[in-house]
Parts: sequence; structure tokens; C-alpha cells
Amino acid sequence: MATAEEKQTKREKFLAEMKKVAEKASKMTPEELKCSYKGILYPSVLCSKETFQAMEKLEAREDDVLILTYPKCGTNWTIQILHEMLFEMHNKEPTLDQAMLEFGNPEKFEYMSQQPSPRVISSHLTCENIPKSFFEKKTKMLLILRNPKDTAVSFYHFSNKNPVLPTYESWDLFFKDFITGNVIYGSYFDYTLQWEKHIDDGTILVLTFEDMKADLTKALRKINDFYGLALKDEQIKLVQEKTTFFSMKEKSSNTHGDLGNVFFRKGEVGDWKSLFTEDQSKEVDAHFEKYLAGTKLGNMINYEKYCTF
Ligand code: A3P
Repeated sequence: MATAEEKQTKREKFLAEMKKVAEKASKMTPEELKCSYKGILYPSVLCSKETFQAMEKLEAREDDVLILTYPKCGTNWTIQILHEMLFEMHNKEPTLDQAMLEFGNPEKFEYMSQQPSPRVISSHLTCENIPKSFFEKKTKMLLILRNPKDTAVSFYHFSNKNPVLPTYESWDLFFKDFITGNVIYGSYFDYTLQWEKHIDDGTILVLTFEDMKADLTKALRKINDFYGLALKDEQIKLVQEKTTFFSMKEKSSNTHGDLGNVFFRKGEVGDWKSLFTEDQSKEVDAHFEKYLAGTKLGNMINYEKYCTF
């Protein structure tokens, strides 16, 4: 097990790397901050064609823990939950370099191949861009959904506070890009609809941000059962205490450096009402109706409950 000193050094290295990336990005124009691969926009300081190509050869493991999210749907929350659960179960130290599968240089996959199991891997990629190996190995995946209106508002604030993303002069301008899918990682609606194809594979557990927020213990039990972790009630309680919004926000400068308060902003359900106009709300309703109404994932989002004024 790593000593406290080794852990501290690793964390410092990770935060220093994050800082370097942010500094580089702060000197770039909004256009330069975007790059495109296979028709989808990505943050150019974090993603590259070379890394995408190297990723295609990645060898998944049956016991990988793969966390899937559209941006702002609870990625960091879920990563932390899994790290805490695995720590309780196997005494496995959380890796601090929690960046996404698609971030970084192509050599990272060599490093990943040497990491001990179970690896916690997260990604915002659409199912078509997730390396095939994960499907071949029948890796268990956790898909976290969040209602589109809160996702959009969270994404807007994040874009304006995180130097690696293009900033927007107004919410209205961001909204236009969000609804047409002209944002980093593309359309929320396409993303969600694509995963619908895999919903009956038997390898995906779907949870929603809203359900996690309403009853975190219940969500933790579902994850526990899905991965066969056999955590005791006391252990689940410990994980729950460490992964509430306030516990995570409190430690966020340690885990996420200067961006701590940016990643852990409000952590609420329904904040969309602070920015959406009636017309914008109707526009999202129409998109939801067109793409997701009646689908299994659409039903899980519980749209009526969370997206009505
Ligand atoms: P808000 O911007 O609405 O506050 P991601 O990690 O995918 O970038 O998602 C970020 C969103 O999840 C932010 O939403 C953040 O505050 C929220 N979040 C992070 N940790 C959370 C937690 N433990 N409980 C509730 N919400 C959390």
C-alpha cells in the first residue's frame, strides 16, 4: 500500500498537471479549445487524434469498472463512490489521476495496462466510440443519467469556469449550442439514445443523478449488488458519508485543486429553473419527445417529475 507521503506526491503531481493544462488553455481562443474527431467536438488540450487511435487497441478487462456519463451528469461523484467502495472491499487505494479514458497522451494506455484490477475507468464517449474490447469482454458498465435541463445549466456554468472549455457570453448562446449538439461531446440526446441500444445487454446498470440525490444509500446498494462487492451495511454507510455533496465539496481543493469549487458547484436537482425561459423549456421538451420519450432510458429520466416548470 502507498505511504501517506507517496500518496501526497502522486496527488501533487496530478494537481500540478491539471494546473499546467489550465494555464495552457487560458491562452487559447474558444475556437482553438475545440477539436473534432469522427464528427464530435472534444477539448483540444485534453484529447487528440493520436490518443483516440491508440485507445482503439486498449484491452478491456472483465473486471474493469467502467463509468459512462454525458458531461455534468455526476461523473466525479460516481468515480469517488466506486473508489471508496473498492477501498472498503479490497483495501484498494484510489488512484488520484482520475482523468477520463479519452484524456491524455497515447502512452497512457501502456500505463493503464499495468494497473492492478479492478480499474475504475470513466468516459464521456458515446457507445459507438467506447473501445469495442469493453463489449467483447462483457465489462460491467455504470451509466449515470441526469435530466437534460439541469445538465445544460451545469454545463453552462462549467464551460464558463473551466479554462479548458470555450466560454459563452450568455446562457442563451450556450443553450443554442446545447440544443443543436454543437457543444463539447456533442448532443445530449444522441448520446442518451445511443446507449439505449445496449440497455438489454445485461452488462449495464443505469442510475440517475436524481435518484442518487434522493436516496444515496439505495443507489450504493444497487452498485454493491451489481458488482457483487458484498459490502456490509456499516461500510455502505461510511461510503455514503464520504460521498455526499458537502463531504466531497469540502475536500475538493485537495482532490481537484483550483477547480474544486467548479466541479462541485451546487449539486442540486431543479437548478435549471434559475436560467431557462419558458420557450427554452419547451424546446427541450420537444427534443425529449422526439428522441427519448417512450424509450427505456427516457423513462428512467423521469422527465415529467424533474423537467416541468
Ligand atoms: P452542478 O453544476 O449542478 O452543481 P460531473 O462530475 O459529471 O462534471 O458533474 C458535475 C455535477 O455533479 C455538478 O452539478 C456537481 O455539483 C454535481 N456533484 C458532484 N458531486 C456531487 C455529489 N456528491 N452529490 C451531488 N451532486 C454532485
